[in-house]
Amino acid sequence: MGLGVGFGKVILFNEHFVVYGIPAIASAIGAKTTALVERRAGSGVELKDERPETKGYKAEKLAQQKESLDRMLKLMSIDTEHSAFRITLGGDLIAASGVGASAASCAAIARAFSDELDLNCPDERINEIAYEGEKGYHGTPSGIDNTAATFGGLIWYRREGASQLMERMKVKRPIEIVMGDTGIVADTRLVVGGVKERKDKEPEKYARVFKNAEQLVHDARKQLEESNLERLGACMNENHALLQQIEVSCDELDALVKLARESGAIGAKMTGTGKGGYMVALTPGRELQDRVAEAIERKGFQALRTTIGA
Ligand code: MEV
Repeated sequence: MGLGVGFGKVILFNEHFVVYGIPAIASAIGAKTTALVERRAGSGVELKDERPETKGYKAEKLAQQKESLDRMLKLMSIDTEHSAFRITLGGDLIAASGVGASAASCAAIARAFSDELDLNCPDERINEIAYEGEKGYHGTPSGIDNTAATFGGLIWYRREGASQLMERMKVKRPIEIVMGDTGIVADTRLVVGGVKERKDKEPEKYARVFKNAEQLVHDARKQLEESNLERLGACMNENHALLQQIEVSCDELDALVKLARESGAIGAKMTGTGKGGYMVALTPGRELQDRVAEAIERKGFQALRTTIGA
């Protein structure tokens, strides 16, 4: 029996822009996905998905999950014609768009196989396998999700050609955030593809927005590392505006962002793929965190209370 885990994540700055080599900041959140791999008689792989979910997520992602698993098994040279395995996914990370659910499951599965087959894969290899798995969901992933899912912590991430560059970041103390779920399942492949299409059609507009995103993330890093939370919140608001300009937000995300700000959050933005999934609000202190989470819950949405930089 092999066991593995993968961390859920929140992207604090520059989802989408990161696909094009612009730096981004992400943090692991408290929740994790676990994978258990057991050998069976016969051949083939059975996947039991026991993760909690946003309604409809698992059904919607089933074909992508299968492609992802096939890719990872191939990269690990696991022969499923002459051996059989059962994979059980679990843990407390909700299978939903925007929390790195696919990447967390890929890292957990890679680790569980490494454990079961005594492959002794170091984290770098787990990350490579999880990246291959992410291609099943994303098409052309930047690699930020699998990197956050594998290594955890607070990271500065940049893609340079085929290289994935990660730097660990530190904050003075963990900062409370609230993540609000629109309940809408998004298709990362489609949303990322949409950005590419519009970018090709309107190169000047997109070059301007991308330049702003690059400048903003350096400022955001400084504010985060120096715990200037008011300014960090303002950077998040600005990042949301840039994401709106590349048309990856939606009415539901914008409404939750507005609600969080009106309830006292010092900054709020969509996170991850967009067009549904989660938003994130900066809510330092338990009292503010509860106030914002309760405002979201009163409107009938799920709110996740967690921290970044733990
Ligand atoms: C999805 O969590 C993040 C995106 O930037 C895609 C990627 O980086 O591969 C939208």
